[in-house]
Amino acid sequence: MDRTGEFPRENVAKLGEMGLLGMVIGEEYGGAEFGAVALAVAIEEVSYACSSTGLIMSVNNSLMGLPIYLYGNDHLKDTYLRRLITGEIIGAFALTEPGAGSDAVSIATTAVRDGDEYVLNGTKRFISNAEVAQVFLVFAVTDKEKRAKVITAFIVDRDTPGFEVGKHEEMMGVRATGTCELSFEDCRVPVEHVLGDVDQGFILGMKLLDNSRIGIGAQSVGIAQHALDLAVQYSKERKQFGKPICEFEMVQDMLATCAAKVAAARHLVLHAAYLKDEGTKKITREAAMAKYYASEIANDVTHACLQIHGGYGYSKEYDIERLYRDAKVLEIYEGTTQIQKIVIARSLLEE
Ligand code: CAA
Repeated sequence: MDRTGEFPRENVAKLGEMGLLGMVIGEEYGGAEFGAVALAVAIEEVSYACSSTGLIMSVNNSLMGLPIYLYGNDHLKDTYLRRLITGEIIGAFALTEPGAGSDAVSIATTAVRDGDEYVLNGTKRFISNAEVAQVFLVFAVTDKEKRAKVITAFIVDRDTPGFEVGKHEEMMGVRATGTCELSFEDCRVPVEHVLGDVDQGFILGMKLLDNSRIGIGAQSVGIAQHALDLAVQYSKERKQFGKPICEFEMVQDMLATCAAKVAAARHLVLHAAYLKDEGTKKITREAAMAKYYASEIANDVTHACLQIHGGYGYSKEYDIERLYRDAKVLEIYEGTTQIQKIVIARSLLEE
């Protein structure tokens, strides 16, 4: 899938069968209601094998199923929730635009009310799952005069006239996530497809990212753990200067440092998830710390473990090369490392 960029439909169907797509959704809609810790553990395990499938799963759970479950009206819940949980349909989260990434509040997509509908115009970019998604959580500016921060969240069905999924993004890593552009041209969305309250979409988006950033932390831990396991194995098999390279202390130093980093990241991720399950009202700082630290160490660890593999690690024959590429985006999507640090610092300073 990394080579072809093909969306892993079979994996997604299996996730649905196993109940891994509705992990934080109530049983009344067919969800497993397992909670945030279980979701983090599952995302880590799935990402260990396939980072793309891990991301698809995280987005579907935390940035589509959960938002409809928490903020959707009965119509939205009845139309989409069960199908999202079984994997019959997939969801996508459409915030980022060509001119608005880190500065999410400056999005330019507009939504103007006309009778019982909103008319959406604009473009989104780098939208994971978009290639196959049936339902999109779309953020648009609803008060052009005030612009900044007056944003509303909409649930947009793929079949809505005026909505189009555009160019597939050719990316360095997580290449099977069906990441595409979206365009809205006089796209009419019924009022009942507003998610949450009108004009309150930015805060809603930020709250959702608090949950889903734990998932990216878990994805990071899965990738890093896989890299470490490969490096341990390889260092025992590879012989240089007459002995396995694991007997050299410089290699041992790298393995030990990686192991401590992976364990520390896992603790941060599970702690943030635990606080969520425990009912802690605001987990913004803990989620940002988990995402920041885990994504950074995933890059450190895949870098060191590729180095242990030497020339073979640089070859596409070995999985470590893919893990190294997959790790980079962890520091970018769902808020860059620099944005996580801003979030952490602001939360410290406002105490
Ligand atoms: N919970 C609740 N409310 C929050 C909040 C949170 N976590 N974060 C911010 N808010 C509220 C603030 O309290 C504020 O409310 P008031 O207006 O009532 O005071 C309002 O939201 C605006 O907040 P800020 O003033 O802090 O806004 P800002 O413009 O300074 O931006 C930011 C804050 C943290 C930088 C934010 O823009 C951000 O997180 N940017 C990164 C965007 C991002 O993560 N994009 C990811 C794209 S999705 C993706 O990648 C998914 C995928 O497919 C992989």
